[in-house]
Amino acid sequence: MRLYLDYNATCPMPESVALATIEASRKSLGNPSSMHWAGREARRLLDDARDCLADFLGVEPGSIVFTSGGSESNNLAIAGHLLRVAKNAQKQKVITTAIEHPSVLKTLEFWCDQLDFDLLTISPRENGVVDASDIIRKLDDATAMVCMMWANNETGIIQPAAEIVSACRTRNIPVLIDAVQVLGKAPMDLAKLDADFVSLSAHKIGGPKGVGCLVVRRGSTLLPWLLGGGQERGRRSGTENVAGAVGFAHALGCKDFSQCVSVRDYFESELLKYMPDVTVYGQAVQRVGNTSMFAVPGMDGETLLMQLDLAGFAVASGSACSSGKREPSHVLQAMGVDVRLARSSLRVSFGPEHQNVDADALVRELLRIRMLLRKMAGL
Ligand SMILES: Cc1ncc(COP(=O)(O)O)c(C=O)c1O
Repeated sequence: MRLYLDYNATCPMPESVALATIEASRKSLGNPSSMHWAGREARRLLDDARDCLADFLGVEPGSIVFTSGGSESNNLAIAGHLLRVAKNAQKQKVITTAIEHPSVLKTLEFWCDQLDFDLLTISPRENGVVDASDIIRKLDDATAMVCMMWANNETGIIQPAAEIVSACRTRNIPVLIDAVQVLGKAPMDLAKLDADFVSLSAHKIGGPKGVGCLVVRRGSTLLPWLLGGGQERGRRSGTENVAGAVGFAHALGCKDFSQCVSVRDYFESELLKYMPDVTVYGQAVQRVGNTSMFAVPGMDGETLLMQLDLAGFAVASGSACSSGKREPSHVLQAMGVDVRLARSSLRVSFGPEHQNVDADALVRELLRIRMLLRKMAGL
């Protein structure tokens, strides 16, 4: 048996998207920057993909900067904005949250250190939600930028992005919203949100890996840090990934994640029925419908993950490798979860293809593994 339950890491590509991507790589013989017919044809494919994406997102085509994915988009917004305002002595502070993806947290740590900004990291409340007032209270004239995610990749918990953008807009403070885990999974109106920068990634919705975009609001500017060719209106040099952009555009709306919520909820109810000591995170708050993060007390998450892998189940643990040591999820730690419980955690992220029988299979396997591990430990 092989069951892929790690859609938040990456999502299988539908056949139609794969075909469109392959066809675009065959058709885009030229370099989109070239003046001749072959270049023009490649440019047309890229422009069509950009128009399609803009239309879907409700933004202007010119606001889309194609990148290599969510990580690069976050890097571009952070470095591009902080480098631009670094000479302004009044702007000293950057605000983020403790539950961000490493492409935000590590990038902020690096640039704030290089450019002498103070980095203020706000923790979520125990329920996993960052309270908007905890950020808004800290906004002042010295704030150079606020960076936060819309939905957390580990717990799926939705964060108050709109409230933060609106508070920042009235104070003229630029905001980066990492919307990588929201695209396709929850309603998203970028025109209404009106954030300065929004990061998106194609492979989380069934598009090709290695392509994404940063949506830059009209009037918001950044300094490019990939220089040379002047592509993407000078904001990101380098020959564009034409086939990737076409695949991204084709993936939009292809996967209907709205069906996942019933399977996810069924999974959690069965899990708690057969393993009542399990802790499920975020059940009381708004989450994207496909994500379930839970802890199995007394079990090591990594061991569970490996055992599940042996049985054909692909899931994730929130732990990260730092200096050769496995560290429990920084997200759960920021929520105040006990380190031992955090180490016992797993993340399951469903896709539209999954049904209750898949949830049943996973619960059965978790029960079998727990029994086996307990037996081996002589418990
Ligand atoms: C919230 C969030 N931001 C950024 C990224 C990075 O995206 P990419 O894999 O396209 O670099 C991820 C990937 O898991 C993510 O979940």
